[in-house]
Amino acid sequence: MLLPFLWNLRHIHDYITKLLKQQRRNTCEFMGPWFTNQNYLVTSDPINVHHMLSKCFDNYVKGHEYHEIFEAFGDGIFNADSETWKYNRSLFHSVFKQRDFELFEEKIIRNKLERSLIPMLDHVQQKGSVVDLQDVFNRFTFDNICSVVLGCDPNCLSIDLPDVACEKAFNEIEEGIFYRHKVPSGLWKLQKWLQIGEERTMTKACKTFDEFIYANIASKREELNKCSKNDEMVDLLTMFMKKDKGSQVVVHDDKFLRDAAFNLFVAGRDTVTSALTWLFYLVATHPLVEAKILEEIKENFGSINNIEKKIGVDDLKKLVYLQGAICEALRLFPPIPFERKQAIKGDVLPSGHIVKPNTIVLFFVYSMGRLEESWGKDCLEFKPERWISERGGIVHVPSYKFNSYNAGPRTCLGKDLSMIQIKMTAITILSKYCVQVEDGHVPFLSHSIVLLMKNGLKVRITKRGI
Ligand code: HEM
Repeated sequence: MLLPFLWNLRHIHDYITKLLKQQRRNTCEFMGPWFTNQNYLVTSDPINVHHMLSKCFDNYVKGHEYHEIFEAFGDGIFNADSETWKYNRSLFHSVFKQRDFELFEEKIIRNKLERSLIPMLDHVQQKGSVVDLQDVFNRFTFDNICSVVLGCDPNCLSIDLPDVACEKAFNEIEEGIFYRHKVPSGLWKLQKWLQIGEERTMTKACKTFDEFIYANIASKREELNKCSKNDEMVDLLTMFMKKDKGSQVVVHDDKFLRDAAFNLFVAGRDTVTSALTWLFYLVATHPLVEAKILEEIKENFGSINNIEKKIGVDDLKKLVYLQGAICEALRLFPPIPFERKQAIKGDVLPSGHIVKPNTIVLFFVYSMGRLEESWGKDCLEFKPERWISERGGIVHVPSYKFNSYNAGPRTCLGKDLSMIQIKMTAITILSKYCVQVEDGHVPFLSHSIVLLMKNGLKVRITKRGI
């Protein structure tokens, strides 16, 4: 099966979607050449996915191989199973669910919009030049996640588009992880042992990024020792350093904090970049949708002057049409396009496919968002209306069908946070500027763990005259 895959590499996401459609219950076995050990069960059947992610959750784990590929994640939440995962999840959950945390996030995003994103877009529109909006969002989300997790802003988003070492290293680590998905494990392990090629780059990048995080941990510890207890929310690292657990105080060591920080960077950076990039591409190419979003913004905020100063987390919930547009972008272009699970024991999927112990099951979130059975004949169209109920609220779609935020006990913990960031950014940009995709620019889907545009999103920006 490898040859047709290689032949269709350029459109691999659509090719797999088409292939799965032709199979019984959108499920098939993928068999690589014998020497690669690349045999998987691939599915996009929502009932199978529900079975693995919820009903038989304990039997489908990340597994040892995942741990090796995602080595840079350490023992953080994404890479962990059983007790380590449970501990991380309850720790993150205890912070994420706080109202103060939402307000803290709102303050960071507002600052970044006012101080960096708006000046940057003003500069681009004055020059009349073409800008890669995906690169802008990548820098924007990196600064935001740094502020939320570490309490510092590396200012990647500024007019001169600087090269920032820690950001570059982070990108290289993600590329390295995807490389480990693509090639047989024996090959990357040999490269790692010899310290050549992609593995050499990965080792260097991990070193640079770790130095950056550990330096932050050291300065936070120093700060914390100097000042007395302060209840104000500063950043996640400080909050995780000492955590009250009932009557005990748990002190986390540097390695735990490094892993927690790294995993939060992965969780909250590229995913939001991807969502924003595809949302802007779809809105810019669907003028009727754009007009309806603008109408909703005007209805809710009146004048758009200094809109970034006015938007608060509670107002965001009223923007139902905008939320429909975001869900539609996440459905058609899920930031995490596929996920993998490993079966501990043998099992039979609801589709009737047999799972042997240790089988790796890949489920294609990208294909799930394009299933006629779930979304109807118009499943390939961008239609925010499909998310709006007759009463004008958001239609609830079970998470095993709309799987972009995962489902079951490992559902994304940052769903609400990401919505805050995406909505605040979309409202600010759309009400101030017209975004026009550069003529002839056709976006290609990247081959990476996060679904970005391979060639960026090239746009022109003009001031909106309303
Ligand atoms: C549009 C934006 C986002 C999307 C589409 C998204 C999607 C996902 C998905 C698919 C997973 C499951 C990954 C897996 O198990 O391998 C996940 C997990 C997670 N996400 Fe998000 N995410 C987004 C933003 C965020 C943000 C902003 C944060 C917080 C900073 C966050 C925090 C987490 C955490 C902590 C987990 C691990 C949950 C667990 O394993 O129990 N996410 N997310």
